[in-house]
Amino acid sequence: MKHEDWSGDRVSVYSTLAARNFAKNEREANDYYATEPKAARLLMGVENFAPNIWECACGEGHLSKEFEAAGYNVYSSDLIDRGYGEVRDFFTADMPCSDCDIITNPPYSKATEFVGRAMEIIQPGHKVAMFLKIQFLETQKRRSLFNKWPPKTVYVATHRLRCALNGDFASIGSSAVCYAWFVWQKGWRGDTVVKWIN
Ligand SMILES: C[S@@+](CC[C@H](N)C(=O)[O-])C[C@H]1O[C@@H](n2cnc3c(N)ncnc32)[C@H](O)[C@@H]1O
Repeated sequence: MKHEDWSGDRVSVYSTLAARNFAKNEREANDYYATEPKAARLLMGVENFAPNIWECACGEGHLSKEFEAAGYNVYSSDLIDRGYGEVRDFFTADMPCSDCDIITNPPYSKATEFVGRAMEIIQPGHKVAMFLKIQFLETQKRRSLFNKWPPKTVYVATHRLRCALNGDFASIGSSAVCYAWFVWQKGWRGDTVVKWIN
């Protein structure tokens, strides 16, 4: 897929209005929890990325907009049209550019598969950054993933960052969940380093 086929904030198939009217259950079924934009700024404060970034499960663009504001060229897509980016299933979509890093908060129910696919399709030397619950570190299912692709760095949020169901930050309080940015670099092997942000 060529660069020019992708646009950061263009609505592709349906109108913004239609996305806004999405039934609540339909959104929940696809695990839509928007990330507090501050999380993107914190990540950029500690990691450098390639000029081209693919936000491959972009929701309403809460992360994409922060990376764009910082000068990155962001290709945004999501399985569901939420009024931002293109409509693409990450598991079948082509890379929008060969020199992209991949950054997202994936649907947690498919997070292991998202990391696996991202690491398969990304070019050597490029980075994958996923905003995940700290519990992503555990379970046998993920042990083989970590054996194959150890994260280079895990950035734990000291002060909890929030994710809001359906992007509705106004109706949530503080977070009961500890999140972390997990960063991989394809080809890198070694012991995972844990750092703390914020
Ligand atoms: C936890 S939300 C995060 C949204 C956005 N990344 C953010 O941080 O605000 C996960 C998003 O993944 C999308 N999604 C679920 N399955 C997907 C798939 N197979 N391909 C692309 N996006 C998918 C959902 O529609 C939802 O918008």
